[in-house]
Amino acid sequence: MSSVQSSTPFSSSEFAAHTLEPDDDQRWSTWPAATPTQRGPLPRPDWLVTASAAFDTELGVVKTGKEADLFLIERAVPRTHGCLLAAKRFRNSHNSDFHRSSAYEQGRSIRDTREARAIKRKSAFGRMVAAGHWAATEFGALCKAWDAGIPVPYPVQVSDTEVLMEFIGAGRVAAPRLAQSRRKGAALRDAYEQVVDILEGFARMGYVHGDLSAYNLLDDGERIVVIDLPQVIDVAANPLGFDFLHRDIANIADWFTRRGLETDREALFAHVMAQLW
Ligand SMILES: Nc1ncnc2c1ncn2[C@@H]1O[C@H](COP(=O)(O)OP(=O)(O)OP(=O)(O)O)[C@@H](O)[C@H]1O
Ligand SMILES: [Mg+2]
Repeated sequence: MSSVQSSTPFSSSEFAAHTLEPDDDQRWSTWPAATPTQRGPLPRPDWLVTASAAFDTELGVVKTGKEADLFLIERAVPRTHGCLLAAKRFRNSHNSDFHRSSAYEQGRSIRDTREARAIKRKSAFGRMVAAGHWAATEFGALCKAWDAGIPVPYPVQVSDTEVLMEFIGAGRVAAPRLAQSRRKGAALRDAYEQVVDILEGFARMGYVHGDLSAYNLLDDGERIVVIDLPQVIDVAANPLGFDFLHRDIANIADWFTRRGLETDREALFAHVMAQLW
């Protein structure tokens, strides 16, 4: 064996795979090109593939939403190791008028006035800026929530209008939303307690989720995971912060009550308010 061959990390067949270009449903892993601020918090989970030889393969659409589509991605070094990721891609097309209205945006600034004007005009440039803005905001919120110990998908990286995060599910099957879960009795109460912990966690950060419902909570076996954070609200900066908090709590308490668990939404509101600051 020549010294060149013995120093290559791949067997000959793996090396052959790496001389191939990505297929149509593949791209080179976007990890190497990401700057440190576009990458998730340290320490990185063990399962995360950071090798620059990795391909990202699109395995399919998990769900199309109002403002974004969710894709299942496998990031893998062929024949060695890989991980599953969820890619949330915010749309910048005509049919994506963000319902997350300006009320969420109060107290948040987009400094570049050209960008701000373009968003208002809803020009193509403005829609692209808005989509990138939401991606960056969701990524930042996921990082802060992760660091605070709130059960969110690990935020892997952000680039333009795409947020890459941990895929929550069993194998390639996405975890069901809490709204679809059949929990009853003690299992339902356990889910409620986990959601109360999530509400408290955000409140201790001075934040409100802002769109919390049984549709933005995933039932990952034992554990409840909260998703869909682009609109998180800083209570100190947003004059409507308490209204959003009250709405989130009413949504949650009423959902659990309809499922047969007794809850007291005003008591919960007071309890969570007390965790703010
Ligand atoms: N990390 C994840 N792992 C597995 N499934 C996910 C993940 N993130 C999102 N999903 C699925 O994709 C759906 C849409 O994601 P999300 O709620 O973040 O986007 P959205 O555009 O706001 O969608 P919607 O308009 O339905 O609220 C979720 O309801 C959930 O079923
Ligand atoms: Mg959602």
